Amino acid sequence: MEAREAIRRCLELAEYTEEPGHITRRFLTPPMRGVHDRVRAWMEEAGLETRVDAAGNLRGVSRVAAPRLMIGSHLDTVPHAGAYDGILGVMLGIALAARCRTCALEIAAFSEEEGARFGVPFIGSRAVVGDPVMDPPVLAAIRDFALDPACLPAAEMDAAVRGYFEIHIEQGPVLEALGVPLGAVESIVGLRRLDVAFHGKANHAGTTPMDLRRDALAGAAEWIGAVEREARAVPGLVATVGQLQVSPGASNVIPETAHATLDIRHAREHDLDATQAALVAAAERIAAARGLSVEAALRSRHPATAMDPDSVAALERAVATAGYPVHRMSSGAGHDAMILARRVPAVMLFLRSPGGISHHPDEAVLEEDVTAALDVGECFVTEWGKRYA
Ligand code: HGY
Ligand code: MN
Ligand code: MN
Repeated sequence: MEAREAIRRCLELAEYTEEPGHITRRFLTPPMRGVHDRVRAWMEEAGLETRVDAAGNLRGVSRVAAPRLMIGSHLDTVPHAGAYDGILGVMLGIALAARCRTCALEIAAFSEEEGARFGVPFIGSRAVVGDPVMDPPVLAAIRDFALDPACLPAAEMDAAVRGYFEIHIEQGPVLEALGVPLGAVESIVGLRRLDVAFHGKANHAGTTPMDLRRDALAGAAEWIGAVEREARAVPGLVATVGQLQVSPGASNVIPETAHATLDIRHAREHDLDATQAALVAAAERIAAARGLSVEAALRSRHPATAMDPDSVAALERAVATAGYPVHRMSSGAGHDAMILARRVPAVMLFLRSPGGISHHPDEAVLEEDVTAALDVGECFVTEWGKRYA
């Protein structure tokens, strides 16, 4: 029943959206209030004491006074998201708190992991590890949500928290291809986000000969081709231009500016350094050849992060004890676990993603895999409690 109820709750929360007909719920936007109300009620049903911290994280703490295991994931989504990315991990944390009432747990429902609103990811979990994002637009959004940025220091985890466990959909094709329901995550790739802005000169689309143009969008387009060629050439590298804003944006005006975002990921920092340098150099070379200027700025950088080896081994034991095949894997997606790992031993459990799709309305989970994750989670939490009792 719990697995079916956890899935039902994810689908109920999908109704809290900025865009009717789609699932879009960014950092501290109005639908997040309704999500807080519903999730807080479920946390309290599970015996947790709840609060919303100054970063907009909804926190549920068990009344058991002992070293705590934090179980968390995020409430926010990308635009036009699926119904399970992040939110399923919060629902399963609450279900485990309801199952394991004698365990000292803190369920953390993070306010922003994706970075969809301000281009800065992990706003919620960074506040919990004592590294709050202080960008003015973020602080303004906190005030607009009737929270007080002066209280951000109080969002930091207390010393009682001694470990972090996150349950999340894999968001990729690996587990499905192997026919395996669950994966123990041993590492998370490094990820960087850059803003790359090409500047040219607007002019009349009809009267300006091709050889006299300084077309910012044509320059950006040539560069995006270079991004894809670099990513295909470097094993283990992925690179994505997910946003492109063009100005002035009329069909009969040669584009004056083209602002692109670049998302690059790799398991090794050395390769990310080389890719970042190569793609910035390519942008400069293309701009110079076209009479454009270009600015490239690093917006965020999160190094490749190993999960805690002892916790990964304990999770594998829990998977085996619960009777499921054990599979270790790396994560190509970023997660709050890479932030919590700065402070406490962290580990993740992945559930199979049918169709290997995510950040898309077709994102799905299998009820039997959710049941498996709960059984494994209960074994892991119980064993963890014995180690810290
Ligand atoms: O982008 C990511 O990897 C994650 O979904 N935030
Ligand atoms: Mn995501
Ligand atoms: Mn996620």
